[in-house]
Amino acid sequence: MAGTSHPLFARVYERLSVAMDRAGVAEHRRALVAGLRGRVVEVGCGNGRMFAHYPPEVTEVVAVEPEPRLRAAAEVAAGSAPVPVRVIDGVAEALPLGDEEFDAAVVSLVLCSVHDQAAALAEAARVLRPGGSLRFFEHVVAERPGALRRVQRLVDATIWPRLFGGCHSGRDTLAAIAAAGFTVDDVHRFRFPPSGPGSPSSHHVRGSATLAGRAPTSHERMTGQPWDASYADGPAPWDVGRPQREVVRLADEGRFAGTVLDAGCGTGENALYVAARGLPVLGVDVAESALAMARRKAEERGIAAEFAVADALHLERLGRTFGTVLDCGLFHTFDGDERLRYVAGLAAVTEAGGTLHLVCFSDEGPATGPHPVSREDLRAAFTAGRGWRITSLEPGRVETRFHDDGAPAWIATIARV
Ligand SMILES: C[S@@+](CC[C@H](N)C(=O)[O-])C[C@H]1O[C@@H](n2cnc3c(N)ncnc32)[C@H](O)[C@@H]1O
Repeated sequence: MAGTSHPLFARVYERLSVAMDRAGVAEHRRALVAGLRGRVVEVGCGNGRMFAHYPPEVTEVVAVEPEPRLRAAAEVAAGSAPVPVRVIDGVAEALPLGDEEFDAAVVSLVLCSVHDQAAALAEAARVLRPGGSLRFFEHVVAERPGALRRVQRLVDATIWPRLFGGCHSGRDTLAAIAAAGFTVDDVHRFRFPPSGPGSPSSHHVRGSATLAGRAPTSHERMTGQPWDASYADGPAPWDVGRPQREVVRLADEGRFAGTVLDAGCGTGENALYVAARGLPVLGVDVAESALAMARRKAEERGIAAEFAVADALHLERLGRTFGTVLDCGLFHTFDGDERLRYVAGLAAVTEAGGTLHLVCFSDEGPATGPHPVSREDLRAAFTAGRGWRITSLEPGRVETRFHDDGAPAWIATIARV
């Protein structure tokens, strides 16, 4: 219901929110978004009282607000926010945003007044990436049955929503969050205002919840653990602590051009090597721990490279295209169906005339690595019908921590036609 207008409530709320912040809400706002990073959607941003609290690791806030007066005030607040904030018109039940675009969603005193809580939470889940975080600060139903709950029911059925811009004093918001597929990780319950007689809207919760993750890939099912776990106890077997020899050679020969995507970038050695040569590079991976290490290395070495969580089985969701794509050690971890999905996503993000460099274990020679791939496997995956032409397919080596001189590999250069 974009365009929802509550002019009187909006005017009152603009003053009330300032007073509430002074009375202690500002501290809850700061705690609500502490530790967030990446892209954040703030649903129902009101007059933008949250904006001042976003930490610098947040790269963009998209703030959605349907009430025109509050939205105008939010636009003003966005101008002095410490992180980039874009304010847009829209309602929580139908966010004008794409799927899986955000690392986190923030709702602050919003789920009490949306028309349809379940629909609003389903929308938050839709725009979050798998494993994304929901931060909530809401007033809710009294924790225990009793007189206050009865009062909450009574006022919600009568005057409360009319007086307070559609607000309901006693919704069971935590149950709704869980029903929408989130796991509530932590909840802080408190009364606000902290002293005084209390009112139907004085029971608050502040906390975070995590959206269920993506389905495990065939490799994860086989090993029985998520990719992230490979990075937990010391270096992973493929993480040789420097760029792969074959990638260095390709980069030194000038075979990377345009904006570069490193799919399954791990701890980023290859991406950083290419970025150090002056090209814009995005490394994506499903392993958050690996990305954290990659970001740390980039900072320590003073190299500009971007690292983001993304599922290579849905590269099209990146919504970007690249002149060169590198896959060093990812393709071979996928099974038949996954390979088809992966190749389709690669086609979506590789510019026409662009290049994919693929380094994978081969099935030729002694001491083959896990997941050996044959020439035929590669030819079957990268066909003209799917928009590809293999321009060279050479034997090479993939270095690992358990081979003295690497394992047999294919170095494939594949053109996007
Ligand atoms: C063998 S490692 C290679 C890492 C890096 N490219 C290198 O050469 O050191 C494979 C990487 O792919 C990542 N990965 C596996 N499945 C993925 C998926 N569906 N989407 C994105 N990354 C994935 C893993 O987390 C892991 O970091």
